[in-house]
Amino acid sequence: MLCMGIEGTAHTVGVGIVDSQCNILANIIKMYSPKKGGIHPREAANHHAEHIVSLISESTQEANIDYKDLDLVAFSQGPGLGPCLRTAATAARALSLSLDTPIIGVNHCVAHLEIGRKTENCENPVLLYVSGGNTQIIAFSNGKYRVFGETLDIGIGNMLDKFGRDLGLGFPSGAEIERLAEKGDKLLELPYSVKGMDVSFSGMLTAATYLIQKGNKKEDLCHSIQETAFAMLTEVTERAMAHTSIDEVLLGGGVASNKRLRGMLSTMAEARGAKFACPPQKLCIDNGAMIAWMGLIMFEGGVRMEISDTVVKQKFRTDEVDVSWR
Ligand code: ATP
Ligand code: FE2
Repeated sequence: MLCMGIEGTAHTVGVGIVDSQCNILANIIKMYSPKKGGIHPREAANHHAEHIVSLISESTQEANIDYKDLDLVAFSQGPGLGPCLRTAATAARALSLSLDTPIIGVNHCVAHLEIGRKTENCENPVLLYVSGGNTQIIAFSNGKYRVFGETLDIGIGNMLDKFGRDLGLGFPSGAEIERLAEKGDKLLELPYSVKGMDVSFSGMLTAATYLIQKGNKKEDLCHSIQETAFAMLTEVTERAMAHTSIDEVLLGGGVASNKRLRGMLSTMAEARGAKFACPPQKLCIDNGAMIAWMGLIMFEGGVRMEISDTVVKQKFRTDEVDVSWR
């Protein structure tokens, strides 16, 4: 069985093609990067609309298949920005109708987990999902994926990007912050905001902006923000593992590229005798292959959708999904 997945929740528009064994036959993305400031939903959607048709056709060439070989079309139904979601959904519907192929809308956050579970051979992991807009700790319990902890305000990636903008770095800034942090050694004090199982980053951002104005070294600032924010994330992930008695931890989302975050989590996992895993970068960031894989296992698990079921859900919650495939 061959499935094409279309991703378009936020900055990234992507198309991937996978088969029933999760061989990734194609996985290509294009990322919208605003010239100034943060993401403008309509502009991002225009960017996706401009590229989506060529990405679809390139993906079939890369996979060396014909459109008629596709058995299923999947797309990210939410959560995300309305205009972006609608662009991806419209493309998926058009493709499904013209090819007379079934269509499935998938939850973007759960797709991050399922692709990692497959490629990293994890049975039942706790997922730490860290991207621009999202920061969640997710695990399976009583037939659903549940959010055990999350950010109470902004996502970790958005926090890093805003901090990077204040430092005069380009967008997105996570990777540059990581490079600078390697040369920093002084730990400046920043708010460590863990509230039960949840975290909060806006206070840290305000405090860090103040420390920039005070003339602290960029390297020390980056080092401090990483150490504090990642320690918070590691703490809540460990607590979720302890509560659920789960001994696997999976990392996903764009911020998973960060070696310091990986290092902290793998040290924590090792100390607990648990497994730490992280999919390759191309599958951690937003991409179409994870959407295709998620659609495929849902379909094989008996899920079916009509076009009328494919309305996008901007606030699609992780625990709304009935997990019939596990
Ligand atoms: P979502 O819709 O899931 O919120 P997104 O649009 O934010 O996704 P991703 O590709 O998952 O897209 O993540 C992008 C984020 O990852 C950006 O905030 C970027 O700064 C951050 N990032 C990328 N590389 C690194 C790194 N090495 N260290 C820290 N953060 C990183
Ligand atoms: Fe994502």
